[in-house]
Amino acid sequence: MEVQNVDLTISAVRLDQYPKTNYPEIALVGRSNVGKSSLTNVLINRRNFAHTSSQPGKTQTLNFYVVEDQLYFVDVPGYGYAKVSKKERERFGQMIEQYLTQRDQLRGTILLVDGRHAPTADDVSMYQWLQYYHIPTLVVATKIDKVKGNAWNRQESLIKKTLGLPSANQLILFSAVKKTGKDAVWQWIDERTGM
Ligand code: GTP
Ligand code: MG
Repeated sequence: MEVQNVDLTISAVRLDQYPKTNYPEIALVGRSNVGKSSLTNVLINRRNFAHTSSQPGKTQTLNFYVVEDQLYFVDVPGYGYAKVSKKERERFGQMIEQYLTQRDQLRGTILLVDGRHAPTADDVSMYQWLQYYHIPTLVVATKIDKVKGNAWNRQESLIKKTLGLPSANQLILFSAVKKTGKDAVWQWIDERTGM
């Protein structure tokens, strides 16, 4: 889908601030700096609408982007960023957990992992947590433009194996720079939301 209209509806930190609409929602989760905001921008055809940064910890609230008045992307703060204080990390954790477990409009999450490396222990925990709550999850390996083409298969296997992703499950190799994988991600979103 080629998005024309998009708006930031709200940056929420609490349940009572979430949009009151019944549009389906897709959340983007993953480590700080993995590329959640960058993926959001590719999906909505904007350069830096969702603010990105080379410094981890940029996104600190649940950012609800409404797309074509039909669907929300929810850009979520990243986990695993050491420089955030323990208290802050707990607050983020609670905010994310509350959203993911209590939001009826949530149709699925996109879990982003760094395509250059093996998933971290935090990534594995996040994947298992999403499975435990039966939240439909698409795993996307980001920054694949930084991996030589002949190593893509190896990275794909490594990521699947480390996460324990069933081999039949889709893993999308993605690049925000080259827009690799954009259509495949949209296809999954369409299937989940009936767009
Ligand atoms: P937080 O908001 O801190 O959790 O980070 P985030 O996951 O939203 O990451 P963000 O999109 O801000 O990207 C972090 C950095 O990685 C930025 O410098 C991006 O330009 C870069 N980046 C993101 N995706 C890609 C990609 O596919 N390829 C390359 N080469 N760089 C990327
Ligand atoms: Mg971000």
